[in-house]
Amino acid sequence: MEIHDGPMTLSQLSVAVGCPADTLHRIMRFLTHNGIFKKELNLSKSQDPESLYYSQTALSRLLTRDKIGFFVLALAGNPGLNAKDLKSGKGSSVKSINASPEDIFWDMIKDDPVYKLFQEFLACHAKTATMAVINYCPKAFEGIRCLVDFGGHEGMAIGMLVKAFPWIRGINFDLPNVIAGASPIDGVEHVAGNMFESVPKADAVMLMWILHDWSDDLCIDILKKCKEAIPADTGKVIIVDAVIDEEGGDEYT
Ligand SMILES: C[S@@+](CC[C@H](N)C(=O)[O-])C[C@H]1O[C@@H](n2cnc3c(N)ncnc32)[C@H](O)[C@@H]1O
Repeated sequence: MEIHDGPMTLSQLSVAVGCPADTLHRIMRFLTHNGIFKKELNLSKSQDPESLYYSQTALSRLLTRDKIGFFVLALAGNPGLNAKDLKSGKGSSVKSINASPEDIFWDMIKDDPVYKLFQEFLACHAKTATMAVINYCPKAFEGIRCLVDFGGHEGMAIGMLVKAFPWIRGINFDLPNVIAGASPIDGVEHVAGNMFESVPKADAVMLMWILHDWSDDLCIDILKKCKEAIPADTGKVIIVDAVIDEEGGDEYT
């Protein structure tokens, strides 16, 4: 519907997605019932399914590939942490939290069949989170001439930041296998390395969606590396991550 740019009948949808109409009808019933799509008013009250159009909602627009579609798909699968493993304290996803830097989840995942989906998922997250940072926290970037994004993946976030705040020169820092797949971005230098070892110097470091992956001890090691990267008097570390309000007082955390 996003590509079609308007409401569609069941048979139009069936051709577009390559799914038989009867099967798709069941899926569309489920999705409209759950508020993801809407049925357009059927003024003729005809029972003919072809007189009925499906249209988008704010939710379906958010679920497209260029927004959070891949994010939801990846969470529906099992590429990383999952609630079942966390609850039992066992399983591969829990092991990754306590892994040593030499045994990192990030190196292991590249041979996994869900790797490509996971890459899309990260780009999707970076885009959505960076938009929010640009819109709601522009002051954090004032006066920064050089910003390094530790674990910046293929550079989506830093690319958006240098465009929004053109006085910033960006460094996208990630593991060599990730940087090898990154495309050139105006105003951004890609640097391959390991944030537990040697890190590039800058006025400020950004850690977006990084700290939650590591144990407290390894987070301290990462923060020490941030300190090493920035000037002692004027340096800044910008952390963008989920915050859990354990008292439950804030509905947005
Ligand atoms: C959860 S992703 C976050 C990506 C991006 N910052 C975002 O917000 O979407 C973590 C990133 O850290 C990178 N990473 C993991 N271990 C690293 C290390 N030791 N040194 C540098 N980057 C690392 C991964 O390759 C991955 O791109």
